[in-house]
Amino acid sequence: MSGAPWYFDCDTGIDDALTLGLLVAEGADLKGIGSVSGNLSAAGGARNTLDLMALMGRPDVPVAVGAHDPIGGVFGGGAEFVHGANGIGEVELPHVGEPVAESAAAMLVRLAHEHPGTLRVLAVGPLTNLALALELEPELPSLVADVVIMGGAALVPGNVSAVAEANIWNDPIAAQAVFDAAWPVTMVGLDVTMLARFEESHRTELAAGGAAPAALAAMLDVYFQYYTPILGRPSCALHDPLAAAIALGVVVPTLAPVAPVEVDTTDGPGRGQTLVDLRGRFVGYPAQPDVRHTVPLEIAEGFGDRLLESLLRLP
Ligand code: RIB
Ligand code: CA
Repeated sequence: MSGAPWYFDCDTGIDDALTLGLLVAEGADLKGIGSVSGNLSAAGGARNTLDLMALMGRPDVPVAVGAHDPIGGVFGGGAEFVHGANGIGEVELPHVGEPVAESAAAMLVRLAHEHPGTLRVLAVGPLTNLALALELEPELPSLVADVVIMGGAALVPGNVSAVAEANIWNDPIAAQAVFDAAWPVTMVGLDVTMLARFEESHRTELAAGGAAPAALAAMLDVYFQYYTPILGRPSCALHDPLAAAIALGVVVPTLAPVAPVEVDTTDGPGRGQTLVDLRGRFVGYPAQPDVRHTVPLEIAEGFGDRLLESLLRLP
């Protein structure tokens, strides 16, 4: 568990919902949560986040609606085929609470000023809110301890194109701004998140837990339907939960080189590709003192078991 204050940015989303569960179960000190359009609209993501946090016993955490459109573009409509029409696998939760009045970007800037040097940022959707916060407060990188994102792919294929991962593809300009800023960024990409899995046995055990675990298990029906043909058996990838686990120190990658990352911001076939300079690979990735990007490439097996153990602690 990390005692640091956290700002969490998400597009809630089934794997985002599992991540909220992990953060709550691990006792992360969540100071605020921002939503962003991605899996569904930013407004819909905030609704899901509020309802899930109430179900998990944390209705006190403020939730801010973030950017609807990507930088310089228009929101394309979400990923209903992955997460269902309401983003959480058609599971209907009681509506509890309302978002706060400030935007997600303003919330991030405010929290950074309230917790200078200690605020940790975990972002598991498109990076629009972080880019807008950098515009609002150019000193933001010096106020934030570090940024962990779920996004990108270094040595493996993309998931929305041959080369691009969804969060980066949805707002490549914002992603480039986040990698350009002078803060440490850990890019938890498809290299490791496609290795982190929930199997049918995990879902069955989760369904037998309390109200929150059972609701999460019900959402997984839709997510498993999407992933079963991709992975070859009933199961799913645990993208966002793995990013949170790495941020919290619950999972320590077995290989995570420091390597510069650039994003393809064109509208061509490379749109959204993360170009990770791994040329140090054959000499053991020598230290690069001026580089601020870390890219996990390998993890040990067993994250699904660890996530299940945490989620079953929820009410
Ligand atoms: O590519 C995986 C990412 O896209 C995850 O953050 C998931 O929630 C989806 O939005
Ligand atoms: Ca997400």
